[in-house]
Amino acid sequence: MKNLTLGYKKEEILKNVDFKVKEGEFIGIIGPSGAGKSTLLMSVTGGIKVFDGKFEVLDFDLNNIKKKNLVKLREQVGVIFQGYNLVDRISVLDNVISGMLKEIPLTRAIIKLYKKKELKKAKEYMDIVDITKHSMKRCDELSGGQRQRVAIARALAAEPKIILADEPVSALDPKSAKKVMEILRKVNKTYGVTVIANLHHLEYAKEYCDRIVGVNDGQVVFDDKSELLTEKLVEKIYTNN
Ligand SMILES: Nc1ncnc2c1ncn2[C@@H]1O[C@H](COP(=O)(O)OP(=O)(O)OP(=O)(O)O)[C@@H](O)[C@H]1O
Ligand SMILES: [Mg+2]
Repeated sequence: MKNLTLGYKKEEILKNVDFKVKEGEFIGIIGPSGAGKSTLLMSVTGGIKVFDGKFEVLDFDLNNIKKKNLVKLREQVGVIFQGYNLVDRISVLDNVISGMLKEIPLTRAIIKLYKKKELKKAKEYMDIVDITKHSMKRCDELSGGQRQRVAIARALAAEPKIILADEPVSALDPKSAKKVMEILRKVNKTYGVTVIANLHHLEYAKEYCDRIVGVNDGQVVFDDKSELLTEKLVEKIYTNN
């Protein structure tokens, strides 16, 4: 993002933002409620209106992207929400396999056609998030932490270049939250997937992310290595205007 201003309808939400992400980074975005963190994150999938400035993601120019390329971009970007967005009535394994499908013909019959190769891959992803022993359970039988881990495995199944995680651990207890953060780090380091996560817990951002970006009132007010985030800077990031 270079000098980027974007938003909804006529309202500018991000203003003059400069933000560059290197391949393979693990970035935490922090800032007060309403600052524009989710807008910043989700804009990476190309759905938010650009008013001014330059915006490139992977090889795509988001200033004027064609629909066909938007689909291609979205195939390379995995998204994980606080609400998990899994299909409850099918198994963990079927959810993970569905991540490999480009379109989503989510019927068991179609998923069952999937071959040994896909099953092996699915197992690899389930192993990474430590959910293999629950692979045949329906997703509505899992705990919140387990569900979030399935969501990560499903995102991985699409072999994304980027994973966007919007408050992936906000609804979890500390132990489950740490486990999910550790898995995101493992995914980042093992597969080199770039991870950008909105986090409400500063301590997780500091512990797990390489770099922290502080957003306040639609502007980037901090952007540096995690260890350089001092108490004073945190206060500045969370100041209400
Ligand atoms: N779909 C939308 N249409 C119009 N305005 C929106 C939309 N989504 C968000 N906004 C506005 O954009 C601003 C930033 O919202 P955003 O969700 O990006 O904040 P946030 O930093 O993620 O906050 P939180 O920490 O509460 O999740 C808010 O003023 C919000 O009302
Ligand atoms: Mg948000």
